[in-house]
Amino acid sequence: MPCVLLFCLGNCFYKLNILDYSNISLKVMRIYHSPVMVQEVLESINFKSLGVLVDCTLGSGGHSEAILEYAKSIGKKIKILALDLDYEGIEIAKKRLNNNLDSIIIKQGNFSNISNIVKESGIDKVEAVLFDLGVSSLHLEKPIRGFSFRQDAELDMRFDINQTDSASNVINQESEETLKNIIRDFGEEPQANAIARSIVKNRPINSTLKLADIIVRAKKSYKYKSIHPATQTFQAIRMYVNNELDNINSGIKQAISLLKKSGRIITISYHSIEDRLVKKLLLEESRECICPTNILECVCNHSASLKLMFKKVIKPSLEEIRQNRRSRSAKLRVAEKI
Ligand SMILES: C[S@@+](CC[C@H](N)C(=O)[O-])C[C@H]1O[C@@H](n2cnc3c(N)ncnc32)[C@H](O)[C@@H]1O
Repeated sequence: MPCVLLFCLGNCFYKLNILDYSNISLKVMRIYHSPVMVQEVLESINFKSLGVLVDCTLGSGGHSEAILEYAKSIGKKIKILALDLDYEGIEIAKKRLNNNLDSIIIKQGNFSNISNIVKESGIDKVEAVLFDLGVSSLHLEKPIRGFSFRQDAELDMRFDINQTDSASNVINQESEETLKNIIRDFGEEPQANAIARSIVKNRPINSTLKLADIIVRAKKSYKYKSIHPATQTFQAIRMYVNNELDNINSGIKQAISLLKKSGRIITISYHSIEDRLVKKLLLEESRECICPTNILECVCNHSASLKLMFKKVIKPSLEEIRQNRRSRSAKLRVAEKI
């Protein structure tokens, strides 16, 4: 049975329902991408009123599996509509969710098109939407997908392999100026200038390791700290190739309008650029007025549609970070439709 615990976050105290998740955890942690902050995601869902949940980033199905198994364990019938851009991930998720296929509709699609996908599935409004953003370990660990600077492969980085433009097109065809802007804006890389110059000088660049080597050499003043010197540039190229920020912007706005009253939007982001955008979108929708601060009288006619469930982001426990290093940068945000 769920019990109630007082949970201390900075200066604020929150009441969280701590769910008995122990009986399903072994199954979830099998051999796939390990879903991040599962316990916290389950605690963020209001299972009492849950009918339909949209999992916008199915990946290999870890969160969906945990949600369905937990619902089953408390005798609650729910439906998940799950989508992902990545066909390969979907096939893996289908195997993982083999026991639950009657409770989940799985579609290949972009969450920037979530309103249409929900409508086409015969659904009107939903009780919860989950976004577990970014890249999956399946992408990083499979060299052929060309996401990782640790294994050699053709530069690719597309979530959807049917998309025409890959990282190779961007690296080999964009101007030095465009590359500099991409690396600076999507990677917050202080040495974007030098890296872009070096990329253009060394083209053609067709492999991940060649690109990583060019970046390392361009950043010669770089001292190895906690991350590999190519991390920010690879992140930037991936975000550009997959149009990630525009998709998040559009997906979250549509998700908010799909929620029923008291429905919840749950997001997990993994780096500051992504999280800043999510925070801005949720904060904006939780405000009555979004006029610029220098305007004395409100002219925006905006009204709040969300209530933020926590003032601060929720981060994974030290135990989770110890078990799954990928979770270390995760930030969970939850808001409720009002
Ligand atoms: C962190 S993984 C999700 C992992 C998943 N929660 C699990 O438990 O396995 C993020 C997933 O989002 C997908 N994705 C990224 N952008 C997307 C978009 N615009 N629309 C749909 N899926 C997207 C990626 O293909 C990737 O599989």
